[in-house]
Amino acid sequence: MAFTFFFRDDQILTQAVQKLVPMVMGRTNIHILNAGCAMGMETYTFAIILAEHMGKFALRNVKIHAIDIDNENVDFGKTVTEAVYHKDHLERLPEGFLEKYFTPIGDNVHYRVIEHLRALVNFQKYDLLSLKPLRSDYSMIICKNVLLHFNYEQRLDVLSMYHDMLLPGGLLVMENTQSMPEELKGKYRKMLDYAQLHEKI
Ligand SMILES: C[S@@+](CC[C@H](N)C(=O)[O-])C[C@H]1O[C@@H](n2cnc3c(N)ncnc32)[C@H](O)[C@@H]1O
Repeated sequence: MAFTFFFRDDQILTQAVQKLVPMVMGRTNIHILNAGCAMGMETYTFAIILAEHMGKFALRNVKIHAIDIDNENVDFGKTVTEAVYHKDHLERLPEGFLEKYFTPIGDNVHYRVIEHLRALVNFQKYDLLSLKPLRSDYSMIICKNVLLHFNYEQRLDVLSMYHDMLLPGGLLVMENTQSMPEELKGKYRKMLDYAQLHEKI
């Protein structure tokens, strides 16, 4: 079972959303990749933060592509798509968000993400190390706590692939303990001194 939780690294996700929203306003097809989404807690955390910063109408133009290798025999895809979580997993939600973004499913211990957010997300089983770009029009790639599983060469390959997958000016978000390898510094510009938010050059 992958280690993940709702509102993990929410500060960097919020900062990323604050950069993203003015950049994509007015666009009708906005694609986001959530790489290594695990059971979808990160995916729906991002969807909630986006909903807090974007009007309901504009949000309909967003598609969040959640991918994972699903290498631990857990049906990540089903979890991400159904978006049902035990209440114990929802304890870190900011106040008011449980009522706003989830509905109880009847047993009083499980809650489902509201349809409006579920509709934004699709899941695909995918191995990043296949190095086959999924699309080349992502406005943002969120890849947190995944690259640490790879060796240095694999990290370089995946980050180069992300460069090919992003639109010009597209954003890449990593966890704060990750850093951009020297070899790729001509491809990305770091946007914040204190966080791993990078813009494609
Ligand atoms: C520690 S979890 C991080 C989950 C989430 N991103 C977060 O930060 O909370 C790492 C995830 O990366 C996925 N992963 C590892 N290797 C992968 C690969 N080659 N392709 C796609 N996903 C991979 C794992 O299956 C796992 O779900």
